Amino acid sequence: MSAPTSPKSPLQAGPSHALKGRVRVPGDKSISHRALMLGALAVGETRISGLLEGEDVLATAAAVNAMGARAERTGDGAWRVVGRGVGGLAEPEHVIDMGNAGTGVRLMMGVVAGHDMTATFTGDASLCRRPMGRVTKPLEMMGAKFTGREGGLLPMTVRGAAEPLPIEYELPVASAQVKSAVLLAGLNAPGVTTVIEPQPTRDHTENMLRWFGAEVAVQDTARGRRVSLIGRPELTARDVAVPADVSSAAFPLVAALVVPGSEVTLVDVGLNPLRAGLVTTLGEMGAAIEVLNRREEAGEPVADLRVTAHALKGVTVPAERAPSMIDEYPILAVAAALAEGETRMEGLKELRVKESDRLAAVARGLAAAGVEVEEGPDWLVVRGSGGRPPKGGCTVTVDLDHRIAMAFLVLGLVSENPVAIDDGAAMATSFPGFVAVMNGLGADIK
Ligand code: S3P
Repeated sequence: MSAPTSPKSPLQAGPSHALKGRVRVPGDKSISHRALMLGALAVGETRISGLLEGEDVLATAAAVNAMGARAERTGDGAWRVVGRGVGGLAEPEHVIDMGNAGTGVRLMMGVVAGHDMTATFTGDASLCRRPMGRVTKPLEMMGAKFTGREGGLLPMTVRGAAEPLPIEYELPVASAQVKSAVLLAGLNAPGVTTVIEPQPTRDHTENMLRWFGAEVAVQDTARGRRVSLIGRPELTARDVAVPADVSSAAFPLVAALVVPGSEVTLVDVGLNPLRAGLVTTLGEMGAAIEVLNRREEAGEPVADLRVTAHALKGVTVPAERAPSMIDEYPILAVAAALAEGETRMEGLKELRVKESDRLAAVARGLAAAGVEVEEGPDWLVVRGSGGRPPKGGCTVTVDLDHRIAMAFLVLGLVSENPVAIDDGAAMATSFPGFVAVMNGLGADIK
């Protein structure tokens, strides 16, 4: 396990004037990881623009470099990756530290599982407590072998399969990471690898595999969404324009909704329907969000979002919607704290195994800020104030969770007294420059 490296950097956010402006938040984290990995597995030179240069994605860039692909920065968010072709990566010489990146490590385990090589992965204290069994189980069925800590935890060594077997696998949890790990291993399997997902999850891997030339078929069946990949394609290098991350845009978006008088435009936001559950939910709560300039980039829908402050009302968010907004519940809970009436969020079991136990962290933080909240095993109820500022005046422990840090700083903007976080460093994993972006819009975070 990596040792804690830097001293904590506490931050606090106080009551804010109206937020105004137009911003592009950093690139999509999910798409950035995949662009580097598929670039490494393609033949030729892939050029990426708008790559998220956050710690999570930089860990993936280092990992593909350690396996013989050449990923290098050529400018602001601009990267080139010289790939080695499907099955062409080389065994890394050192342990690979994936930092805080769950997506990075789980997808890279899929990549290694489909190669005749051995690699050892580790991560920070958060990543080393997250379950890996969900990916090792199907990857073992494909012929890979894993040795990790008790309970299937990192650090973990993957012995990849020289001849990975194509499998048909039904996901026991709604997880795009598990689906993607299986498909990435299946790239080097002779035959068709199929993943069936009872609840559809983000399909960036499928979209990008097609963009690089693989054949991926998707069918809706009685058992769920059936994704099949024909193994051993020749992936050809392509240019990838990474949209702004809707999961990062969510923070200034909710801030603009709840800080009176605000008007903010978020440009180039990736609006993949399997990611856009927050926009649907906020719409049901009465939010004024205009979706402008819809277009497509690298097989992904993109748009600009214009948001004006608006009174919100509580709603029930159904469990089926959870996969399409799984990372947005912390910030939705902040919106719910300001809404009129009760917001009930269901189907949240997966929040317990994110960068931290987010269900507990959100409930604890809201309660400390004077918001009425009730936490169940897989649900959360927030009783909103109808626009009255919550008391605030608390310090939230971030526990290496970037989204907890950002959500509670946004709460501080609409609280009577400032809300502090004990450590802002984790925000660099997904949203470097969060404080500068928010302060640029008129917030006062210091
Ligand atoms: C991701 C999938 C989600 C999400 C994570 C990114 C991805 O995780 O929470 O931030 O890029 O595939 P799960 O697959 O565990 O739901």
